[in-house]
Amino acid sequence: MAVIAKNNPNIKVTIVDINQERINAWNDSDTSNLPIYEPGLAGIVEETRGKNLFFSTEIDKAIDESEMIFISVNTPTKTYGKGKGMAADLKYVELCARNIAKVAKTDKIVVEKSTLPVRTAQAIKSILDNTGSDVNFSILSNPEFLAEGTAIQDLLNPDRVLIGGESEEAIESLASIYGSWVPESQILRTNVWSSELSKLTANAFLAQRISSINAISELCEKTEANVDEVAKAIGMDSRIGSKFLKSSVGFGGSCFQKDILNLVYIARSYNLQAVADYWEQVITLNNHQKRRFADNLISTLYNTVSGKKIGFLGWAFKKDTNDTRESAAIYVADHLLNEQAHIAVYDPKVSSVKIQSDLNYLNTRSEDENKRLIEAKDSPYEALNDAHAVAIMTEWDEFKTYDWHKIYTKMKKPAFIFDGRNILDQSKMEKIGFDYYSIGK
Ligand code: UDX
Repeated sequence: MAVIAKNNPNIKVTIVDINQERINAWNDSDTSNLPIYEPGLAGIVEETRGKNLFFSTEIDKAIDESEMIFISVNTPTKTYGKGKGMAADLKYVELCARNIAKVAKTDKIVVEKSTLPVRTAQAIKSILDNTGSDVNFSILSNPEFLAEGTAIQDLLNPDRVLIGGESEEAIESLASIYGSWVPESQILRTNVWSSELSKLTANAFLAQRISSINAISELCEKTEANVDEVAKAIGMDSRIGSKFLKSSVGFGGSCFQKDILNLVYIARSYNLQAVADYWEQVITLNNHQKRRFADNLISTLYNTVSGKKIGFLGWAFKKDTNDTRESAAIYVADHLLNEQAHIAVYDPKVSSVKIQSDLNYLNTRSEDENKRLIEAKDSPYEALNDAHAVAIMTEWDEFKTYDWHKIYTKMKKPAFIFDGRNILDQSKMEKIGFDYYSIGK
């Protein structure tokens, strides 16, 4: 919305939320206090806020005044009832639709921005069309393809913008907003269902590439092939392409797992077992990769990590973000804590409170025990002091620039590195004295 406001100074954009604290943070004059860390975002908020970008909790007023409303609430995996653990929870989307239906007195274009299962637009339309008033609603699907950490760049230069809908007038109205900075040839128009399904499919394909290369990484470790070399060799085939072939400790983030589970659930609900089983394997392999990393660390440390200090570099699910949702670090830590390891974490952007709440959410052990076994440190050197092993969980650039000589002298010997992101130089680390393990080599 900030990027839309920046590129359309004549359009007033109001972002509303029921959470007063969040809205206050978005209105904070010190933009380092914004609730989301994303390179380039603070500058755009500073440039547009108070001019044509506003943050408010006055939801009904904003609905009343708007011609176009984006529903951008979260659609987490259901934690209860039918479809528990698989289906998307549409509670918040439905509440939004009902709120719009209740308040609207003039015609509106309602845009699904949240990632939604196929045919959700139908449910929204049915709620909006049964208000008893003569207000006319057009529903559009406009999924978001930005990736965290590069959100602003992705929004300023998108590969494509996708708009699904029935009403040509509504589609063109949204297309003209994007048209102020996105070339016309990159604005795709489809029917609503194609648009909804394209979002799930894009994420499933991206995640599938990571699971595919991660599956090969395990084979590389047995055969003395090098996964980075294999990725480079296959990626130069233009039919395959070089992106998203970086082997890792496993993908995380709020989208991939949720959207694939959702896809699997939808396929099963149409009784398409083979389709569902096919996509489910992407998740199975990802879970295996995280588990394998932790198991390898334990077996290398002479089959026990009990009472040993393990230093984690990184907790976020990828670099340049403070987002930790579904981060591999959470699951690897949980497994090591089951083996009574002591973990000290350093992440440049993640707080100690977040780390504790991520682990508490899993409910594996008591909150007190999590507090006792894992702590966040203010510097990498503190986190690694006296540690038996370093586990690199996130590919933050700064990790490459540390004084690894100094770290080595402060660690227990033998000093192990488990590089879950393959970011350090193996021969350099071995020369310093480290026992260095990476993925797929
Ligand atoms: C993803 C999609 O890329 C984006 O289009 C969609 O809108 C939302 O979901 P995001 O989750 O922000 O974006 O990050 P992404 O860059 O896709 O990375 C997801 C996870 O995969 C991260 O944990 C990342 O470290 C991992 N990853 C990515 C790899 O392990 N290897 C790769 O080659 C690429």
